[in-house]
Amino acid sequence: MYAQVIDSGGKQPKRPDDLSAEEKAFMQRIDANEKIEPKDWMPEGYRRTLIRQIGQHAHSEVVGQLPEGNWITRAPTLERKAILLAKVQDEAGHGLYLYCAAETLGVSRDDLIQRLLAGDMKYSSIFNYPTLNWADIGAVGWLVDGAAIMNQVALQRTSYGPYSRAMVRICKEESFHQRQGYDIMMKMAQGTPEQKAMAQDALNRFWYPSLMMFGPPDSDSVHTAQSMAWKIKINTNDELRQRFVDQTVPQAEYLGLTIPDDNLRWNDERGEYDFTQPDWEEFWQVINGYGPCNRERMDARIKAWDDGAWFREALAEHGKKRAQRQAKAVNA
Ligand code: 3HC
Repeated sequence: MYAQVIDSGGKQPKRPDDLSAEEKAFMQRIDANEKIEPKDWMPEGYRRTLIRQIGQHAHSEVVGQLPEGNWITRAPTLERKAILLAKVQDEAGHGLYLYCAAETLGVSRDDLIQRLLAGDMKYSSIFNYPTLNWADIGAVGWLVDGAAIMNQVALQRTSYGPYSRAMVRICKEESFHQRQGYDIMMKMAQGTPEQKAMAQDALNRFWYPSLMMFGPPDSDSVHTAQSMAWKIKINTNDELRQRFVDQTVPQAEYLGLTIPDDNLRWNDERGEYDFTQPDWEEFWQVINGYGPCNRERMDARIKAWDDGAWFREALAEHGKKRAQRQAKAVNA
């Protein structure tokens, strides 16, 4: 079953005096904002952390197709259907770029997928929540893609070259996704009282799970300190969560919808909103495999993998025959 608490080696960064000569040279490059490329020397922990993060990110893109794919056949108009189809296809593309970025670190895509299917790798908690009606598709685009962009814009400056470059294109596409979600919410918020109530209900259900996407509070984050020292992460989980709240509240006000948080208020002193934290107990439950849709999502991925067996075999067979033909041509 998906997700477990894996000991992925999170710890505090080494003190400068404890670094080897290679590690010191590596940290100088990081401090100078140089990109690290696949063939460059890198600490084993840096490589492992990237494989974990990029792999989980890739899995999230692919699993993220499921809650939305569910609505392609039920989109209310042909135009909405075409837009949603394009969006879901983009997510597959994001998964592909990210698996390719991870492969530059010496791990195969098949291996990453096997680790996901065996429950040894995570994907984003958000995709374990159901999309119950069309307004949820709006809320997912607006909030979930909005949260994803907030995190990923910063990752364009991550220290690993292939990951940062993948992020540039992904962010462009994610902003289109976010706008299509906001557009759905706008239509519904300006529609009949029943449609507006649906939009409000979707916001109520997706608000706190969206806040959870940024990860646990900094005080409980295992990896942040080391990942920030390596510039794999550029901001802490709490910093990005705060930015997301500050950006989203005015958007909700423009829609005429209410963020489901009685404690939400502008704090003049801090220049940002005070807000209620999500239920962190629920977050740990979800990432440990007990969210509303964990089983359904994993079953769907396992079925997709099994259903694709004939195609992978055919591709391998084709590759073998092509190599044989090429070898014959060279020897002829
Ligand atoms: N869902 C599932 N697991 C999560 C999580 C979440 N929202 N947030 C944290 N975790 C896990 C971590 O993976 C880690 O577990 P592990 O040690 O077994 O890997 C544990 O909780 C502790 O969290 P940390 O804060 O120490 O972990 P990180 O430093 O890795 O920070 C993160 C978490 C901010 C999500 C970071 O990994 C990150 O920035 N990842 C890249 C972005 C990403 O994966 N986004 C997925 C969003 S969905 C998406 O993009 C699809 C789009 O189409 C909407």
